[in-house]
Amino acid sequence: MNTDMIHSNAPSEITPLLRVENLCKSFDLPTGETLKACDSISLTVDKGKSLGIVGESGSGKTTLMKMMMQLIPASSGSIYFKGHAIECRKATQQLDYHHHIQMVFQDSTTAFDPRMKIADILCEPLYNQGLLKGRKAVAVAADYLAMVELPPGIARRYPHELSGGQRQRIAIARALVANPDIIIFDEATSALDVSVQDAVARLLVKLQKEHGYTYIFVAHDIAFVRCICHKVAVMHKGKLVDYLDADELVQSDNPYTRRLIQSVYEI
Ligand SMILES: Nc1ncnc2c1ncn2[C@@H]1O[C@H](COP(=O)(O)OP(=O)(O)O)[C@@H](O)[C@H]1O
Ligand SMILES: [Mg+2]
Repeated sequence: MNTDMIHSNAPSEITPLLRVENLCKSFDLPTGETLKACDSISLTVDKGKSLGIVGESGSGKTTLMKMMMQLIPASSGSIYFKGHAIECRKATQQLDYHHHIQMVFQDSTTAFDPRMKIADILCEPLYNQGLLKGRKAVAVAADYLAMVELPPGIARRYPHELSGGQRQRIAIARALVANPDIIIFDEATSALDVSVQDAVARLLVKLQKEHGYTYIFVAHDIAFVRCICHKVAVMHKGKLVDYLDADELVQSDNPYTRRLIQSVYEI
């Protein structure tokens, strides 16, 4: 993709939305060993901004996101959402928290029911919350299709009738329907062709400028993260080795970050 930065200019006021402090996750392996997938991670997600989490496969990125979403419990450490510590012990509280943070995966579309039309796939979160009855689905779906720059006729199609890029736009639209505070994209565009990835990235930046959305982009591609994010966190073997503004990334003196940058930019 084009390596120019395309993220929106930073507004002056910074509001922390989500903060993790000293977050750790260990897995007990069948061999009897313990694997530290995340080791004392502290970072902040600011409202209306994009945070990139970059690192090679196995560095702990997805584990960190799953803890942030409360899909798996942390071994230790704290998570604060809008300034309050999250203690989602009750199922009802967990459900509420899950509405605030939506996740789009590389293969989100495999979660779509192949027998459902796109209109119903998009509106499912609203049906589940009792916020929508059947007849309005087409109109609501058309609004969200327009947001992700797809024609309204797509609402009547089935997932297998769409291209990979179109299906990923549906996954994004479905995340937006829930009106979340934060959207996490875990390698969500990695499988797309470079030109399609570029178009989706530009769409997401445009939506952020218009609606103030807050994003976390998890990716192994440092060039992608650099051009779409305001801040970048670099993970290596479960540790946060760098955490800085995207504009400062190329000046980082951390050896691991430098290696990642040199592999892409040949500087
Ligand atoms: N449920 C699990 N049980 C055991 N090990 C796990 C589990 N989930 C992840 N891991 C290990 O934790 C490390 C980090 O994985 P992950 O968070 O998926 O990394 P990334 O998303 O950066 O590729 C890897 O070594 C992975 O094998
Ligand atoms: Mg991962």
